Amino acid sequence: MHHRARAGYNLSFTRPVADMPRPLTETRPSLPSRWYYDPAHYQLELESIWYKDWVCVGRTDAIKNTGDFFTARIGDQNIIVARGSDGEIRAWHNTCRHRGSVLCTKASGHFRSGRIICPYHTWTYALDGNLVATPGRFETDDFDPADFSLYAVHADTWQGFIFISLADKPATGLDDFLGDEKEHLANWPLADMRSVYQETILVNCNWKIFWENYSECYHCPRVHPELGRIMPVYRKAVFDDADLPGWQPRFDGDRGRGRVGPGMRTWTLDGTSSLPPLEGPTEDERDAGVAFTSITGSMYIHGHPDYARSLRIMPSGPEQIEIVVDWLLPDSIGDVNADIIEQITGLARLVIMQDAKACELNQQGLHSMRFDQGVLVPQEYALWDFHQWLRTRLGIPADTWTARTLA
Ligand code: FES
Ligand SMILES: [Fe+2]
Repeated sequence: MHHRARAGYNLSFTRPVADMPRPLTETRPSLPSRWYYDPAHYQLELESIWYKDWVCVGRTDAIKNTGDFFTARIGDQNIIVARGSDGEIRAWHNTCRHRGSVLCTKASGHFRSGRIICPYHTWTYALDGNLVATPGRFETDDFDPADFSLYAVHADTWQGFIFISLADKPATGLDDFLGDEKEHLANWPLADMRSVYQETILVNCNWKIFWENYSECYHCPRVHPELGRIMPVYRKAVFDDADLPGWQPRFDGDRGRGRVGPGMRTWTLDGTSSLPPLEGPTEDERDAGVAFTSITGSMYIHGHPDYARSLRIMPSGPEQIEIVVDWLLPDSIGDVNADIIEQITGLARLVIMQDAKACELNQQGLHSMRFDQGVLVPQEYALWDFHQWLRTRLGIPADTWTARTLA
C-alpha cells in the first residue's frame, strides 16, 4: 500500500471527544479509503462491532403471536427471531444442529404447531430452541437431543424494538448500551406504536458511508431541496442553529436545535399533517417537529409530532448495506388508508433516495488510486466523533489517530 503524508493535519492530536469544538475549528483527516472496501477490514469491523453490539433487527409488532417469526441478517450471520408459547421473544442462529443447513428460508412467517423443521432431514425444534424430533434417525446410545438445541442469540427489547447481540456475553445489557440516546424520544409512545409501512432498500455503499451521510448536513442544501423547505436551517448546511457562527440562545434553555419552519408542523412534503398529535411529546417537542435517537452505525429513529420513523442499517458486504425503514403510528389508530401512508412516507422516501444516490457516488469515487484519505470540514464534527468511536472499537491507540499512520 502506498503511504503518503499530508501537510496541514495536526499529527499529534489526542484531545478527548468532549473537548471537541463544534463546529471544528480546524480540519481533520477522514478514514483511509481502503477501510470502505477492503474485505479484510470489513471482516474486522464485523467482528469488532457488528457481531458484538446490540443491533436492532425489527419490531415486536411484527411477531405478535406465538410461532410468528422473522429472519435477519447481520454481515453473513443469519438469525431467526420468534415468539415462543410463553410470549417471550427468542433468537437463534438460522442453522440446523445436524449438518448445518439453513432452517428457515422465509423473511417472515409462522411456525405451524410451534415447530421449526429443517428442510433437509426434518430435524424438528420447539419454540424454546430444543430439539424435539429427529425423524428416521437410527438410534444409538451416544445421542442425546439435549446436546443439539439451536444456538441461542441474546435478544431484548426496548420500546417495541427488538435487539439482538451475537456476542457470547454482551459487554453491557441493552439498556446501558442505548444509554442517554434513549432520552431524546423518551416522551414518544414508541412501545404502543406499530409499523404501518416498511421499505427495504439495498444501497451499494459501505455502512460507514451511510452513517457519515446521516451525520452531517453539509450536503443538505445541494442534495435535499425539499427537506430544506421544511427545515430552514438545513439550507445553511448545518443541522442545528447552534452550529451557525455567532449563534446566541434566545431564551432560557435554548439549545439552538433545528426545527421546522414557520407554518410547518411535521416532516411531510408540505409540512402539514391530517393526523392527530401523538400523546406524550411536550409542546416544545411538538413545535420543533422532529427529535432524533441515534445508535451509532446501525440505527436512527425520528420522532415527529404525528408519527415516528426508524431506519436500520445492516451491512451485507464491504460495499453494500440493506436499510429497512419503518413508519410507526399509534397501534390504537386502527386501519390506515393509502392517503395517510402517502402523507407520512413521501418526504422521507425522497430524502432517503437522495442520500442513497449520494452514498453510492461517494463509494464509487473512493476507489481512485490517488484517493488515500479525505478531509473533514468544520460542520462534519460528528464524523470526527464517529471516526474516533470507530478507531477505539478497532483498538487503534488514540496517539496514532493521524493522517500519516492511518493510511
Ligand atoms: S441438516 Fe438439518 S436435519 Fe440434516
Ligand atoms: Fe441527507
